[in-house]
Amino acid sequence: MRYGHFDNEKREYVIDRVDLPTSWTNYLGVKDFVTVINHTAGGYSFYKSPEYHRITRFRPNGVPMDRPGHYIYVRDASDGDYWSLSWQPVGKPLDQASYTARHGMSYSVFSCEYKGIKGSQMLFIPVDDPVEIWDVTLENTSDEEKSLDVFSYVEFSYHMIQSDNQNFQMSLYCAGTSYEDGIIEEDLFYEKGGYQYFTATFTPDSFDGVRDAFIGLYHTESNPVAVERGCLSGSQEKGNNHCGSLQKKVTLKPGEKVRLIYLLGEGNRDAGRAMRDKYRSEEAVDKAFDDLKAFWEKKFATLQIRTPHEGMNTLINTWTLYQSEINVMFSRFASFIEVGGRTGLGYRDTAQDAMTIPHSAPDACRMRIEQLLRGLCKAGYGLHLFQPEWFTEGEEEEEDFVSPTVIPGGDLKNVIHGLKDACADDALWLVPSIIQYVKETGDFAFLDKQLPYADTFRKDGSGETESVYEHMKRILDFSGDQVGSSGICKGLRADWNDCLNLGGGESAMVSFLHVWALDAFVELATYLKAHAMDFQSQTESKTLAEKQAAIYEQDLQKYTEMKQTVTKRCNEVLWDGEWYLRGFTRYGKKIGTHTDTEGRIHLESNAWAVLSGAADKERAEKTLESIATHLYTPYGLLLNTPSYTKEDMSIGFITRVYPGLKENGSIFSHPNPWVWAAACRIGRGDLAMKFYDALCPYNQNDKIEIRRSEPYSYCQFISGRDHSTYGWAHHPFMTGSGGWSYFSVTEYMLGIRPGFEELIIDPCIPADWTEFLAERIFRGATYHIHVMNPMGVMKGVKQILVNGEESSYIPQAESGRDVMIEVTMG
Ligand code: GLC
Repeated sequence: MRYGHFDNEKREYVIDRVDLPTSWTNYLGVKDFVTVINHTAGGYSFYKSPEYHRITRFRPNGVPMDRPGHYIYVRDASDGDYWSLSWQPVGKPLDQASYTARHGMSYSVFSCEYKGIKGSQMLFIPVDDPVEIWDVTLENTSDEEKSLDVFSYVEFSYHMIQSDNQNFQMSLYCAGTSYEDGIIEEDLFYEKGGYQYFTATFTPDSFDGVRDAFIGLYHTESNPVAVERGCLSGSQEKGNNHCGSLQKKVTLKPGEKVRLIYLLGEGNRDAGRAMRDKYRSEEAVDKAFDDLKAFWEKKFATLQIRTPHEGMNTLINTWTLYQSEINVMFSRFASFIEVGGRTGLGYRDTAQDAMTIPHSAPDACRMRIEQLLRGLCKAGYGLHLFQPEWFTEGEEEEEDFVSPTVIPGGDLKNVIHGLKDACADDALWLVPSIIQYVKETGDFAFLDKQLPYADTFRKDGSGETESVYEHMKRILDFSGDQVGSSGICKGLRADWNDCLNLGGGESAMVSFLHVWALDAFVELATYLKAHAMDFQSQTESKTLAEKQAAIYEQDLQKYTEMKQTVTKRCNEVLWDGEWYLRGFTRYGKKIGTHTDTEGRIHLESNAWAVLSGAADKERAEKTLESIATHLYTPYGLLLNTPSYTKEDMSIGFITRVYPGLKENGSIFSHPNPWVWAAACRIGRGDLAMKFYDALCPYNQNDKIEIRRSEPYSYCQFISGRDHSTYGWAHHPFMTGSGGWSYFSVTEYMLGIRPGFEELIIDPCIPADWTEFLAERIFRGATYHIHVMNPMGVMKGVKQILVNGEESSYIPQAESGRDVMIEVTMG
């Protein structure tokens, strides 16, 4: 069963059956002002922080679902009948009114046809302004004149998610609304400078600033008294709950159309006035929308593909990049699942996100990487969850909000956790991310940048610093030191799997990840050593360059040796005959061995054994076969199987998660692309594609009765076969599976990836692909790539032509150049 389709030309997903089985969301805004919105205009906005600076309120996990939202109501003045332009909140029967919702690149459009009125409400946030624009059009398609009352509605938030939900003896008196000059301003009175507004570019006929005056007692957003009555009451008040509602009376002759522009923004009435002036003309609104489109097109232009796989083209060219970008922009804590109750950056999630898209978002990735380097303890582990502002130099900021009731707080010392709360994998991800960033951009100087550690940081900038390169070594050394009795990395608080809590027990996955990070670092050190002379400016002496080269040489030796030792040890103690173990408990019991009746085989360690290159050819092939045999399902690869049913806290919380859900036997999306990449490493393009196809949300567009969730984004997990909801996808958008899918497809399956000073093309595809095309911008030059596969192989490059000339590699071209690349596989 399908509910909509992809419109590739417009880069939109069109939902033409709006009675979806669950919320299908979109993200508006690309900087500080953000709205998370569903297919019926339910959702919320925030400015910078979804925890501390909400603009509009949301009642998460509520009934009815996803209320309130950013709504337009239309009322027929002749008979009092009313509806909303989005299907909810009024919810007109779908056999009487026709509704469509379109999610595009940072905009959403809700359209409705009812009673001879064609209405549409587009929401978007201009690239550089903290304001949500509502571009509303109404057209009379009937042959009689229509008199309409049009009402807007948002419910304002008290800024802090806690204030919205708790301690109402305080919250109910912390904000007030006032109306003046066509602008409803909400003043967060307890908070210095805290304001938000709602206005329009037309002069309203009436307004309401008090929520309950608009909605009415014993009414809901579905049937507000003000809309039923046909006019607003002019309410404004200090204290209480607030809304932004403006009424406009509109008379439309047959065929006539009207356009109404509304603005929901951050700041006070003056800020509202300034935005209203700026967007008063329709041209200015159109231009802001065009600029937003251009913002995204510039990103998409960095890589576009044309392969025989329509779904892959649609996702890679638009949706998976979009999802990856959104994760880098907003991290994880703004969705309908994480509703802002946590804030800041998760170390491992952010480190992985930043690795996946430096080609389309180099500055954002670098910013994230820098923030993570500052969140690293000198001992080499990352702070699992932290706020970048904690480690940013500058004046101590005066608190905007001082609660009249005591809220216990902590100082910086308390946020730097010890080893007990360190996750074994967190910082390891950062090493390849840094190297990937440098490869993409050629920004080698970044490696020399001096940065403090979380525990040496001082607000005034006087804290001890070391180079980015030194930070990387500390990360690698940490994993080198933190090993258990069999020489495998300790599992600590958790590894990538939050619910595998091994403490002093050992994690195979982390040791394999260590190998991967070491491999990337050794490649870097090799390159740096060879080019140590080039990187010294002419004014610096030759001796300095030689000294530097000697350091690289030393590092090269040390970390090559480390990589060999770890690889050897992994193969000695972790091989189980058909696959690799997941680790050992602190009592030395094997996890994920063939005699286990629960959790017999796990995906993470096996994916990384192959992807890291630690497994030799024979073991890698066997491992992959075991994954295919035991973990494959038509909806993707299971994280582990059979699910745990008996609690064993020496393995971890995973044994207390319901079988088939989350980390216990579900199809956890994020590790799936690790396996696609692993399959490519050993030339199995067929398996990579089989596994890709299983998880691919596009392929499930017509199976929504099974998937339920949106087909345009990867979800965190899909219920596994041990659960009654087998096949349901949960938690869209905010998951590392977006970034990793993008990374594995582009860099491993299509094989287009940056080197230190070249573009590498080394595809691994199904044998029946005869060719594919790609356009890739690399360091400013555009590469027009044609890959041909006349012999029907899965991997292997026989010939490369650069601008028609045979070449052994693809050198970096001058910025602005077009380069024609023909690659023949064989
Ligand atoms: C969630 C967390 C992520 C973790 C994963 C598996 O997605 O955000 O950090 O790796 O669960 O436990």
